[in-house]
Amino acid sequence: MEFEQAIRQRRMTRDFDPTPLAPGQLDSLLDLARRVPSAGFSQGFEFLVLEGSEQTSRYWDLALPEAKRGGFPWPGLLHAPVLVIPLAHSDSYVRRYSEKDKAKTGLGESADAWPVPYWHIDTGMAVMALLLAVTDAGLGALFFGMFHERDAVLVELGVPSEYEPVGIVAIGHPTQAARAQGAEGSAKTRSRRRLDNIVHRGSWSPPVQ
Ligand SMILES: Cc1cc2nc3c(=O)[nH]c(=O)nc-3n(C[C@H](O)[C@H](O)[C@H](O)COP(=O)(O)O)c2cc1C
Repeated sequence: MEFEQAIRQRRMTRDFDPTPLAPGQLDSLLDLARRVPSAGFSQGFEFLVLEGSEQTSRYWDLALPEAKRGGFPWPGLLHAPVLVIPLAHSDSYVRRYSEKDKAKTGLGESADAWPVPYWHIDTGMAVMALLLAVTDAGLGALFFGMFHERDAVLVELGVPSEYEPVGIVAIGHPTQAARAQGAEGSAKTRSRRRLDNIVHRGSWSPPVQ
């Protein structure tokens, strides 16, 4: 697939076929996802992978217990054979920026010294690369937030407290219906902002009507 086509075609998938990924396919996707830029090449992101229903149910049983599934709008999301939890690690950045070549930035003091938490940015870049790699492979994915279930999930999966999940990526084969439909979720009711409304040339300009 051409790069531009992957960007234009990528849509969040919320309805999956339970078919597993091909052997080695997930590793290939994650291998691409890790090849993103990172501040100071700190690479402070890691992926916790749940593969197969026995593992993915460890997440779903906490996030959406059986008794609450009746009213859930995306039942096919629970069929995704893979869940990837991208974890941001601020300590890697603080440690890296306390090294000789970065010490003058003052960012090696503590995470509080950072005006922009680059660990979130870099983990987000890895997520974006993963979403595009998934599209290129003819698969589907949904990046979604982890909310009330967050702490319980981290305990259940034994994640050390210094690792921060930025969300979850469900990956799998979209159902035929999901392939046929257009935008879903928020994108169904909201249109993409116009380029001339988000680009300010030379100086700040008011939005174009
Ligand atoms: C940071 C972030 C959080 C999101 N959280 C959710 C979520 O919790 N549930 C969901 O269904 N979609 C979620 N989405 C997907 C967006 O709704 C989706 O990207 C947007 O509507 C545009 O649609 P598209 O990605 O299909 O083009 C999230 C996307 C991002 C980038």
